[in-house]
Amino acid sequence: MNKATRKAIIAGNWKMNKTRPEAKALLEEIKPLVANAQDAVEVIACVPFTNLETALAVTEGSNVKIGAENVHFEKSGAFTGEISADMLTELGVEYVVIGHSERRQYFGETDETVNKRTLAALQAGLKPIVCVGETLTEREQGITEEVVAKQTKIALMGTCEKCIKNVVIAYEPVWAIGTGKVATPEQAQDVCGFIRKTIAGLFNQEIADGITIQYGGSMNAANCAELLAKPDIDGGLIGGASLKAADFNTIVQAAVNG
Ligand code: 13P
Repeated sequence: MNKATRKAIIAGNWKMNKTRPEAKALLEEIKPLVANAQDAVEVIACVPFTNLETALAVTEGSNVKIGAENVHFEKSGAFTGEISADMLTELGVEYVVIGHSERRQYFGETDETVNKRTLAALQAGLKPIVCVGETLTEREQGITEEVVAKQTKIALMGTCEKCIKNVVIAYEPVWAIGTGKVATPEQAQDVCGFIRKTIAGLFNQEIADGITIQYGGSMNAANCAELLAKPDIDGGLIGGASLKAADFNTIVQAAVNG
């Protein structure tokens, strides 16, 4: 299948940034800039829980979709500090980032909990953006493919063929996140292509050809075009550069033109 038939998705991951007034201002700035992407590229802002309601109100009627940055896997109960998938869908949230390396590194997230969160999100009607990626040590040890295959396979365990169409995979090499050390377009393409092959093995080629695979890790206005031009890179998950409207828009426009 040709890349052009897959949905290109540019998503900002704001991480722990922006108060509500700041979120409102940034989204007001982003909205008109990316309005032309409407049919070509899905534009998403994944924002802190406290900004969701504001972000949804500000983007209502626009082509900017809103995502959360995490979700708990239980439906409800004694899980102090957690947010359920139903709570997100009730707000009108469409996407959710799951298994980001910062959650794996700092908050004890494992492949198993990533799988549980993915299934819970899908069941509630959310579209999960599932993050996978190797550390620098793992790359140096030559085990990138093993690591990424294991993460992808466990994350998608028990996902039905119908649901998988709502899953987005984000390949984010840990060593490239927030470091300014971007993967080369070739390195990113190799792993994104490998992830697609892994999904073909889990499901079938048609499903693998239809799934959106993003690259994330120091993607910015200067390097995005080369990355997005690669055949298996269907979009980006953007941290730092998503906090600047002009830079985020440059990435969206590169996807529109790519
Ligand atoms: P940076 O773009 O800041 O490297 O962050 C990438 C990321 O972690 C997106 O989820």
